[in-house]
Amino acid sequence: MTALARTAVRSACVGLALLGHASLIAASPRAPDVDDTAVRARADALIAQMTPEEKAAQLTTVFALPPMKSIVDRRAASGGGSFLFVTDLRETNRLQRLAMEKSRLKIPLLFGFDVIHGLTTIFPAPIGQAASWDPAMVERDQAVAAAEARAVGIHWAFAPMVDIARDARWGRIVEGAGEDPFLGSAMAAAQVRGFQGPRIGASGHIIAGPKHFAGYGAALGGRDYEEADVSESEMRNVYLKPFQAAVDAGAGNLMSAYMPLNGIPATGNRWLLTDVLRKEWGFKGWVVSDSEAVNSLVTHGFAANPQEAAAKAVSAGLDMEMALFNPAMDTLPQAVAAGQVSPASVDEAVRRVLEAKIRMGLFENPYVDEARSAKVASDPAHLAAARIAAERSAVLLRNQGALLPLDARKLRSIAVIGSLADSQRDALGPWVFPMNNPPSQSILTGLRAKLGPRVTVSYAPGVAIPARVNPSPFAQIEGAFAMPKRPDPGNDTAGIADAIRAAQAADVAVVVVGQAADEIGELASSSSLDLPGRQQELLDAVVATGKPTVVLLMNGRPLDLKGTKAAAILEAWYPGSRGGEAIANLLLGDVVPGGKLPFTWAKNAAQLPMYYAHLTTHDPKGAATRYWNESNAPTYPFGFGLSYSTFAFSNVKVAQPQIARGSSVVVTADLTNTGSRTADEVAQLYIHQKTGSAARPVRELKGFERVTLKPGESRTLQFRLGPDELRYWNAATRDWVIDPATFEVAVGADSTAPFQTSFVVVP
Ligand code: NOJ
Repeated sequence: MTALARTAVRSACVGLALLGHASLIAASPRAPDVDDTAVRARADALIAQMTPEEKAAQLTTVFALPPMKSIVDRRAASGGGSFLFVTDLRETNRLQRLAMEKSRLKIPLLFGFDVIHGLTTIFPAPIGQAASWDPAMVERDQAVAAAEARAVGIHWAFAPMVDIARDARWGRIVEGAGEDPFLGSAMAAAQVRGFQGPRIGASGHIIAGPKHFAGYGAALGGRDYEEADVSESEMRNVYLKPFQAAVDAGAGNLMSAYMPLNGIPATGNRWLLTDVLRKEWGFKGWVVSDSEAVNSLVTHGFAANPQEAAAKAVSAGLDMEMALFNPAMDTLPQAVAAGQVSPASVDEAVRRVLEAKIRMGLFENPYVDEARSAKVASDPAHLAAARIAAERSAVLLRNQGALLPLDARKLRSIAVIGSLADSQRDALGPWVFPMNNPPSQSILTGLRAKLGPRVTVSYAPGVAIPARVNPSPFAQIEGAFAMPKRPDPGNDTAGIADAIRAAQAADVAVVVVGQAADEIGELASSSSLDLPGRQQELLDAVVATGKPTVVLLMNGRPLDLKGTKAAAILEAWYPGSRGGEAIANLLLGDVVPGGKLPFTWAKNAAQLPMYYAHLTTHDPKGAATRYWNESNAPTYPFGFGLSYSTFAFSNVKVAQPQIARGSSVVVTADLTNTGSRTADEVAQLYIHQKTGSAARPVRELKGFERVTLKPGESRTLQFRLGPDELRYWNAATRDWVIDPATFEVAVGADSTAPFQTSFVVVP
């Protein structure tokens, strides 16, 4: 990008932030029911009339930022394919009108956007949503996000992000469901259903675009955009699983990743985009590149120039390019003329894009109808859903002496400490845009509102979190991402002294520490899991006062709290629009925490990558000595989370001790609430294949259910283990196999649950 262009976009984004919404308009009318043959015929009829330039134009989605207005308008009026980053319904309607009234073939535009964890109403960051282990809730929440998006003319979400993340240095761990393919698949499918509803084109719903296809989470060293070298068996057994689940759930779109996978850039990777995605999985939608990823095939040294890049991408199976200014796809007419790409491949890509527009009903209803509008985003049900999501996402990591819940009847004073406690913006997390006016609440506001005037709530920021050492490129390029500037913390210790005084004067201290929202996400990888700035010093100083201390974490990756002696730790993630209220409800015990970690909580960055489903290998008992100077154990295991109640698992049984290969076995387990509070437990089923034609993981999650039980109540839970759960991709045979083998089974509260029973698969 040229310096001029950068400046243009920078000022664009300032403008964008000022736009705001005068009104939020109701869902579009229901799209007509469409059958595949009719859709195809309609698309083909259009293709037959299109010039090479008109075809190429359908194959781009371009950032429609205000300084680019004349270019964007020209593209719309001449039959552009798609735009992104417009979230104002007047602007989507204006551009749509240009396409529908001025363009030769009157093909409507498709508008896409990063609807990641809400558009206006913000839900917890995706890693938090995954920590709920509640796919049904996540489905409902993405349906809310879809309704808000459709109401402003957005048709397509660049979400869910379904990349598996096993190296928490990688900033984008916060955007996905963590380390596990089974949990990740459940969350992927739930989000696709939530966004899309019963079918593509359903009223008030939008197309889901799972991303980033594929292997992006395996970035070398956790450094964003770095190459990924992943064996085929690991790709298929781990990284591709959530994508396939999303495709099986009917995802209409997919976004290709930036990085080279095993040396071949994902955006020009025929194995990924055609062999696996279309031939094996039967994907019928269209694939968009990540932003500028077609042009960056030149950067990778995979293409000599944009024309070759476009030709190679389309030939590999990519359909659409996301571009800032100069789409490589604009050169397709020349590439076809030069024989670099077949006209049939181009037509196929155009057909897939047109089919999406037809299925969305855009030819009939291109505009958002302001007259039939309702204030979708101000629906109070949306904020209530955001609060419930934040409550169900929280994970209780420590609760010594039953410090939590705080007893509201006895509590006289509470000291809230930490600059994150008073930050509305950070509580929303990454991928939240000021131009969409998201409602927000700080933890402090939530606690004050909950406790009322009877309890003295003092506040001491303690220490500010310093600015990033390497500033986020987004802060410069895409101003819509900009975060409020943090004050320079300097070396002043007065803030810590104030915090100590506040803690000493209160019954209890709640210290909110973590990472600011720009310290996680895209291009926010971190070489350390330490608390940024002097937050550790602050935390240690408060704990040293001897006052009962609750640590409230605001983060999206494991953090190294240096063995803090605080009595209680509650993981709040980036809790979203109603985070303050949710956290207050949890701390005061109106709601009982029931979330579980969706990743293994490594002690420090040197242990990474770390995940529970590693292979059984030489000297397992000696695992403790894998490092001579550090334990090989995490701080908290995958699936871990406490409650204000207690639970017991018993009677873990398999229906038959032996099953034939290809059939299923039912596992049952009794779960009892042995405590004194109605509360949730997440029952987790793990298997371990003892022997076989490959070394298999020490354990793998293959079932889970979040259950609410009253004190003393028991329930018998049932899980089915069938061919899908027992098969794996074998590197030697290069195929899916189910080995005749003994499978151990554990059902319990986290990934350390002991194996209680087993069954045998016979040939
Ligand atoms: C780049 C990111 O990798 C992707 O996730 C996002 O959807 C696009 N930019 C558009 O913002």
